[in-house]
Amino acid sequence: MSSSVEYAKAPNYVKNAKLVAWVAEMAALTKPADVYWCDGSEEEYAAMCQRLVDAGTFKKLNEAKRPNSFLACSDPSDVARVEDRTFICSEKKENAGPTNNWMAPAEMRATLQPLFDGCMKGRTMYVIPFSMGPLGSPIAHIGIELTDSAYVVANQKIMTRMGKAVYDVLGTDGEFVPCMHTVGAPLEPGQADVTWPCNKNKYICHFPETREIWSFGSGYGGNALLGKKCFALRIASNMARDEGWLAEHMMILGVTTPEGKKYHVAAAFPSACGKTNFAMLVPPAGFEGWKVTTVGDDIAWIKPIDGKMYAINPEAGYFGVAPGTNFHTNQNCMSSLNKNVIYTNVGLTDDGDVWWEGMEDDNGGVKPAHLIDWQGKDWTPEIAKQTGAKAAHPNARFTVAAINNKALDPEWDNPKGVVIDAFMFGGRRSTTVPLATEARSWVEGVYMAATMGSETTAAAVGQMGVVRRDPFAMLPFCGYNMSDYFQHWLNVGAKFKAAGQSLPNIYCVNWFRKDANGKFVWPGYSDNMRVLKWIIDRVEGKAVGVDTMFGRAPLFDELTWNGLNFSAEQFKTVTSIDKAAWAEELKLHEAHFQQLAYHLPKELVETKALFAKQLAA
Ligand code: OXD
Ligand code: MN
Repeated sequence: MSSSVEYAKAPNYVKNAKLVAWVAEMAALTKPADVYWCDGSEEEYAAMCQRLVDAGTFKKLNEAKRPNSFLACSDPSDVARVEDRTFICSEKKENAGPTNNWMAPAEMRATLQPLFDGCMKGRTMYVIPFSMGPLGSPIAHIGIELTDSAYVVANQKIMTRMGKAVYDVLGTDGEFVPCMHTVGAPLEPGQADVTWPCNKNKYICHFPETREIWSFGSGYGGNALLGKKCFALRIASNMARDEGWLAEHMMILGVTTPEGKKYHVAAAFPSACGKTNFAMLVPPAGFEGWKVTTVGDDIAWIKPIDGKMYAINPEAGYFGVAPGTNFHTNQNCMSSLNKNVIYTNVGLTDDGDVWWEGMEDDNGGVKPAHLIDWQGKDWTPEIAKQTGAKAAHPNARFTVAAINNKALDPEWDNPKGVVIDAFMFGGRRSTTVPLATEARSWVEGVYMAATMGSETTAAAVGQMGVVRRDPFAMLPFCGYNMSDYFQHWLNVGAKFKAAGQSLPNIYCVNWFRKDANGKFVWPGYSDNMRVLKWIIDRVEGKAVGVDTMFGRAPLFDELTWNGLNFSAEQFKTVTSIDKAAWAEELKLHEAHFQQLAYHLPKELVETKALFAKQLAA
């Protein structure tokens, strides 16, 4: 470990002059008591965890039950990404577009300057070097996060390739994305710290032209682990548009057929649609010989090279939602959580283990008789019944290294990436959108992705069942004007076509159709393998499907039904195209397009007209 109060002093292995100057400048601004350059070693991780235990931020869990694992409980005001405090500070407002909060860069800098001035007083400023993607990969990029949170350091060690080796890749004049983070809670001399410092005032700011991130006031998740949503999606989507590649909110999985052929699928789902579960899918009984492996669970960086789409997972760990995760919904994930995990905002059992809502399904419906909930209060099933108190916050998380996942794809760390054979886009719709359809063209696929949506819960919008359009599952993550982003996707496709290169197929899926009684019809989880297999069959030319108004759909007989009792009638319930519902749906697409009218590609308007014509026919 190296540490220095002489702000400008970097360890001698740091040779990038721009980095050294930036750290000195930021230290002069934020005025920390100390500057610490992280080396990413295991010893450092252990020391960081111990520091967090000593500060009361971490509780060490029962070593026999959860070796080398910790529980952090946040301030109740700091539990999730803050979309209303997230800004894209492009020079021109229209470049942020109607789906982002915008402030002019000069105005935002003037707002942030007094907030950052002295914001790290009494704290250590940590310098975290990290690579998004395999070190040195032509698809990877480097970031440096400065933070006053040891919790962030520990999490970044799991979530990224972090440490000294990054400086070798960076060299004397390599490029990095500066990621400035503070919890915004300076300590006056003698002032006692709290276990989760943060500030009521929060700003999560992105400067796309200068490719900078400034985050103030939150210590939680995507607000603070700046490699993830801020860099790998909001800033990287700008880099990708400028450089002709794709930075996507997609998981990547590998599928190996019984014949030993391997394919890769990238899939976008909005938050809370089971994306991590799909990334770690275990094929059900009846699919012997099929293998599904995880390349990534949240983000994909995809670069077209020689007529192929090469994808990497820029992350090295999973920051997943704990509640609802159990051995039925995600067996591989549960198995990966047995050691070396940071848990945030879950319940603490009396024997020093963790618990969250949904885990009772692994225990015959039995919940712990007593535990301490994420807010430090006594919790019993009786209290929960009376007050509705949750053991875990609904957005409670686990941070776990990808290498803990026993279904990890052997190519996950390959600097070349994996070749994508199909894209999937899936929203959460109880009606209208069928189980699966294949786009008949790239443009139709872009249309499907651009109009996908999720029915909201009451909390998000104030009304149940309202469809929140979430184009490409990028609504909170696209760092520029959404319609320009659609155009970028069209341009990438057009370039392939012009070069005579074939593009991956695009699929629209929906696991969430309900019957007349409001019950889910499709079993989901492992059974999504049936749709995945049909997709692979289509890629291999083994299935034909049938044309519908909204793409090419599987025939009942084309899905493999081994081990599942699912009738043709049920299949119809999840695949039917209801003409009246689609007439309404197209009106909603129209309203959505009106909101995105500035720079909306004409191809999407034409595609909508074509759908309307087919519907009327
Ligand atoms: C996430 C999200 O946390 O998509 O990954 O919200
Ligand atoms: Mn996500």
